[in-house]
Amino acid sequence: MNVLFVASEMTPFAKSGGLGDVASALPKALAACGHDVRVVMPMYARVHAPGRDFEAVFDDVVLILGGTRITFSVFEAPIPGTSIPVYFVRCPRLFDRPSIYTTDNDEHLRFAVLSWASLVIAQHIAFRPDIVHANDWQTGLVPLLLRTMFAWDRLFSATRSVLTIHNIGYQGVFDAHILAETGLGDAAHHFHQEQLHAGHINYLLTGVLYANALTTVSPTYAREVQTAEHGAGLEAFLRQREDVLFGILNGIDEVEWNPEDDPKILHAYSASNFDGKEKNKQVLLETMQLPYAERVPVIGVVSRLAWQKGFDLCVSVLPKLLARSGAELVVLGMGEPKYENFFASLARRFPKQVAFNKSFSEPLAHLIEAGSDMFLMPSRYEPCGLNQMYSLRYGTPPIVHHTGGLADTVSPFDAQRGTGNGFVFEHFDEDGLRFGLNQALRTWGSGDGEDRERWRMLQRNGMRGRFGWDRRITAYEQVYRLIAPGR
Ligand code: ADP
Ligand code: GLC
Repeated sequence: MNVLFVASEMTPFAKSGGLGDVASALPKALAACGHDVRVVMPMYARVHAPGRDFEAVFDDVVLILGGTRITFSVFEAPIPGTSIPVYFVRCPRLFDRPSIYTTDNDEHLRFAVLSWASLVIAQHIAFRPDIVHANDWQTGLVPLLLRTMFAWDRLFSATRSVLTIHNIGYQGVFDAHILAETGLGDAAHHFHQEQLHAGHINYLLTGVLYANALTTVSPTYAREVQTAEHGAGLEAFLRQREDVLFGILNGIDEVEWNPEDDPKILHAYSASNFDGKEKNKQVLLETMQLPYAERVPVIGVVSRLAWQKGFDLCVSVLPKLLARSGAELVVLGMGEPKYENFFASLARRFPKQVAFNKSFSEPLAHLIEAGSDMFLMPSRYEPCGLNQMYSLRYGTPPIVHHTGGLADTVSPFDAQRGTGNGFVFEHFDEDGLRFGLNQALRTWGSGDGEDRERWRMLQRNGMRGRFGWDRRITAYEQVYRLIAPGR
């Protein structure tokens, strides 16, 4: 099939979270199954890293969105290591900003332009998509554009759209006065009328209403988004579309995240020899300027520091737990100042036990996965989550809240039966988190002798799991076939 994949971020060009990883790995896995996949994303300033070459495809396309005139050009480069073309929408006025997402007052325009540009690119290169695969609110207008402004073009006569919801917590809700600047002013009657009259335009909801099929990134989250607790106001709309809503667990890029062959870590290791992991622990602690002791467990965190991620629970739980257990904690993350300040103050209070690195660093993320003994993800909600899967693969048992994709990938360790790959707490409250952490520390025990053997069993259970994308592609193909005419 011909698949046009549209996303607001994609690794290695630009990434803020898991969407970036998925937008690179899923197209690769689809292409490996013989599909002709093309990706479209914005050319943010950060995309121009040294050593990257881009070929000009065409320039000076003019879009008139409402009264606003936007000019963009298009460049092309393959996903590194593949021949899959990525088309970059270059419009410095909109995309050259310090961060990928902004709170600037033209945020609606930035991603309306991405959505328009994706279909304009297909026209220019005469690519006839069977599927346009949109991702999250930033591309939520694409399905409606296909049904309205681009419906005249026979190129798209057999095109169907899929919208994947990676996170319903971000919907792209704007004041209705921006309607004209979506370029869909003439299609105003297609927007959700009650919301429009109440003064809002919701990009994600628009996608939910008009995509031919909807997917989200784990089976549990697909059920959760249909409930008031997790639907963030869209639950009723999703229930109405239940027959075309599918939960497909994300995979991980098993080449990029492989402890046996990871250029970002110094010491390779595997389930049959953990020596390298211990050495990575030493490197990690040295890097973070914390003392090393084989028996002292190191808890790792790599995360966007956002409300979703559940760190509120840590505020009262972690200080006591650290004081009592002597465990060490290594945190890499940035985001809301409230959480940054919390971890910074924790590091000041426990200078020999806690290190906090407020940055975005891929190499350090890999080193933390490899060098920690356990990994903490207390997410309030988690559509899928990739870090718990990286942790499993790196023999770093995750401690997680039972929600979304965490519930689908992590199961509680049972030493008697020899089953389970991590530690899971049911209730999102302080007792829950304390329970999860205590379970992990108790299982770690002395870190030696029989305790060590038990820990190895747990690590191996995780490392045996198969989380590659190859296992997920059939599910996407089924969704594509379900909606594509004549397939
Ligand atoms: P989300 O997409 O909600 O942030 P995921 O677990 O799906 O959560 O994906 C997060 C991705 O972003 C992982 O690849 C993780 O390693 C990466 N990441 C998050 N914060 C950082 C950071 N500060 N430095 C490097 N990588 C990070
Ligand atoms: C979102 C979710 C995360 C998911 C990622 C990729 O950012 O928060 O759970 O893994 O998208 O689908």
